[in-house]
Amino acid sequence: MAMPVVDTEYLKQIDKARRDLRALISTKNCAPIMLRLAWHDAGTYDVNTKTGGPNGSIRNEEEYSHGSNNGLKIAIDFCAGVVAVEVTGGPTINFVPGRKDSKISPKEGRLPNATKGVPHLKDIFYRMGLSDKDIVALSGGHTLGRAHAERSGFDGPWTQEPLKFDNSYFVELLKGESKGLLKLPTDVALLDDPEFRHYVELYAKDEDAFFRDYALSHKKLSELGFTPS
Ligand code: HEM
Repeated sequence: MAMPVVDTEYLKQIDKARRDLRALISTKNCAPIMLRLAWHDAGTYDVNTKTGGPNGSIRNEEEYSHGSNNGLKIAIDFCAGVVAVEVTGGPTINFVPGRKDSKISPKEGRLPNATKGVPHLKDIFYRMGLSDKDIVALSGGHTLGRAHAERSGFDGPWTQEPLKFDNSYFVELLKGESKGLLKLPTDVALLDDPEFRHYVELYAKDEDAFFRDYALSHKKLSELGFTPS
């Protein structure tokens, strides 16, 4: 599907929506869940069948009631992911507006399972057409927010400052166990594969490299199934 072309008036409205979102996200401190929402909408993409993906279908009740989306109903919106990263101090990510929300939701079960390891992560992200580098860069999204026992069964934040977008997720991952901080099995898996680990080490020591790669991978994630027009 081609990226839509939109007129100036539409772009003005998007700019306005972006401003409103900045205000909303900073007054409600809801950046983490906004980012997770955008990721769960996009992360259903299947490159072979060209189904799922960042098409707003997570707004459909059928989809937001999937188990892996527990807690996300409170955050339903559209360009919230890129704004969430921006207002918490992360890189600016280009956003191409104008795509229609899809009424079709994929079946449950396409998002990654946090209890699994390297082969599972690769299966899920390769299915989206993403690379090892994308997997590590995007996992850095866990620099924001926390897990909630009543939603996922996991509990706690990944970093000391869960409302700040920085490279501390990678620094903490390399440090190992830290009192009060969470590491999911899928986070720890990033240390087990040599290709993954290379990027973990790079991002832990070079925040600019992380921001650059994160912005590219997030843009890719947010455009899965849409080709630039
Ligand atoms: C939260 C799993 C990748 C962004 C969570 C939670 C789990 C999880 C279990 C806790 C949910 C809760 O209890 O509220 C995974 C797995 C991934 C993955 C298995 C596979 C690599 C990503 C990616 C992003 C992301 C790619 C964004 C780029 C977030 C954010 C939160 C979160 C921001 C915190 C939400 C909040 O504070 O309410 N993730 N995730 N995750 N995830 Fe991921």
